[in-house]
Parts: sequence; C-alpha cells; structure tokens
Amino acid sequence: MTIDEALQEATFTLVGVCENPARVAKILLMHHLNVNIEWVFLNLKKELEKKSEYFDLISRFKSYEPLEYITGVSSFYGLEFNTRKGVLIPRPETEILVDKSLEILKKFKKSKVCEIGAGSGIISICLALKTDAIITATDINEKALQLAYENAVKFGVADRIEFVCCSYMDSVLGEFDMIVSNPPYIKNSYNLDKFVLNEPKEALFGGDIGDEILKNIILIAKKRKIKFIACEMGYDQKASLSDTLNLSGYEAKFYQDLAGFDRGFVARLKL
Ligand SMILES: C[S@@+](CC[C@H](N)C(=O)[O-])C[C@H]1O[C@@H](n2cnc3c(N)ncnc32)[C@H](O)[C@@H]1O
Repeated sequence: MTIDEALQEATFTLVGVCENPARVAKILLMHHLNVNIEWVFLNLKKELEKKSEYFDLISRFKSYEPLEYITGVSSFYGLEFNTRKGVLIPRPETEILVDKSLEILKKFKKSKVCEIGAGSGIISICLALKTDAIITATDINEKALQLAYENAVKFGVADRIEFVCCSYMDSVLGEFDMIVSNPPYIKNSYNLDKFVLNEPKEALFGGDIGDEILKNIILIAKKRKIKFIACEMGYDQKASLSDTLNLSGYEAKFYQDLAGFDRGFVARLKL
C-alpha cells in the first residue's frame, strides 16, 4: 500500500468521527513516520512502512482518543508542549489568560505568582518565559505536576517554578502578588463531547453549578490579601463571579474569547 492509498483509506475510515478526517489522517501519518507535510507530498507513491502501526493510530482516534494524546504534543502560545493522557489538553482560549496576566505582571519586578491548577504547566511556563516572576504552581493531580515539571525543563524554566501537589494553595506559605488560574468550571451535569470524555474529569468539572472552584479561589485570594486575580471561567458565570468579587473587595474587568463569549476576568483588590 502506498502512502497515498493509506491516506485515502484512513480518511475514509474517519468520516463522521471528526470534521476534517483528511487533516487528521495526515497528522497521524506525519507522527507515525516522524516527517513533515512537505515530505508526505513528495513521497505519496512510496510504500508505507509499518502500515498496521499507522492504522492502529487511526483506530485510537476513531475510538475518540484526542489527537494530542496520540501525538504526545500540543501547541500553545506558539510553543510545543508535551501532552499525555491523564492531564488536560491546553486550549487556545487560555492564551488570552496568559496575555491578561502578563499585562498585570509587567507592572512588577520579581512578582510572586501562584497558579492554582497547573495541568501541563502551560500558563506558569509562559509567564516564566516572559517575566522575572517567581512562580508556585499547584495541582491535585500528581500526573499533571510531573508533566508540568517535564515541560518546564523542556523550556528551561524549571528553576523558576515550584510545583506543589495540594488543593488550591493549601500547602503554600508566604505572600503573593497574584493568583492565576484556569480551574475546572464546567457544571457536573454537562454532557461532554466524546473526545473530551477522555480527559480527566477533575480538570473539567467545577461542581453542580460549575463556578464553585472559582468562587473558592476568590475567597482564598481575599483571605490572603492577594492584590491581583486572573482567571478563566465559563461563558455564563460573569454575573455570579462579579457578585463574589465585589463582595470580596475586588474590582474586576471581564474579558471575552475570540468567539465573543465571556471567558475570564482580571481583578484588583480595592484599597
Ligand atoms: C482546566 S485544567 C487547567 C490546566 C492548565 N492550567 C491549562 O490551562 O491547560 C484545571 C486543573 O486544575 C486542577 N485542579 C482541580 N481541582 C483543583 C484544586 N482543588 N486545587 C488545585 N488544582 C486543582 C486539575 O487537576 C487540572 O489540572
């Protein structure tokens, strides 16, 4: 079977599984052969090596295993982060949270930042790459912290981020200038897409309403007198979080994602 024939068969197999089966077939072929797209187009008539291994990858995707878990990488903020099952796959909208956090951090020198819910480490690592902040990143998921550390080593910032396995900032002592978080914020009863079902539940579901973890983060920030909070949130959580922020003494600005949905906020403790 040639590469061209394999791509056609794989594409046909994936019809109905995703929106762009031809693209997925090509990405998995590039991953299988460890080549780029130019190589694929120049070698379409070549015999495909280890054909059954390629079709194993196609079967994994057909069983709704996300592409990023199969290839082991995902793009975020122009960088390629290691990714694996058991840890949330980075989402493009979280790049906005990084930008909003950077806007706050540029006013500080050697700021102290705590990220709650580090996952694969994308937020803390981007902040460490762009600022001189001293960062503590927590997560309840040991697998996530291991991956986040691996990614921090990959980008040369492992000495700038302390990784702590705990809930919220329970085991983290000291004063902080900012909390940043993209916490789980989906309501427990929400029916997830079949691919998303393969991601860890504790990274997605925020409670019966969905905003419970976000509210706890605001209360922790208030208790610890942390001046800035930057968080991602669900599109329908602006009103309830606005109330909690107000009552806790924070002045908030909400932001939207590229689709125009409310997606997060930055808040400043009023004097
Ligand atoms: C939506 S994911 C975000 C991961 C990563 N920051 C990102 O933006 O891709 C939320 C993360 O919060 C972690 N988490 C859930 N509850 C937590 C808690 N109480 N304390 C700390 N981390 C928590 C999950 O394990 C998960 O890694």
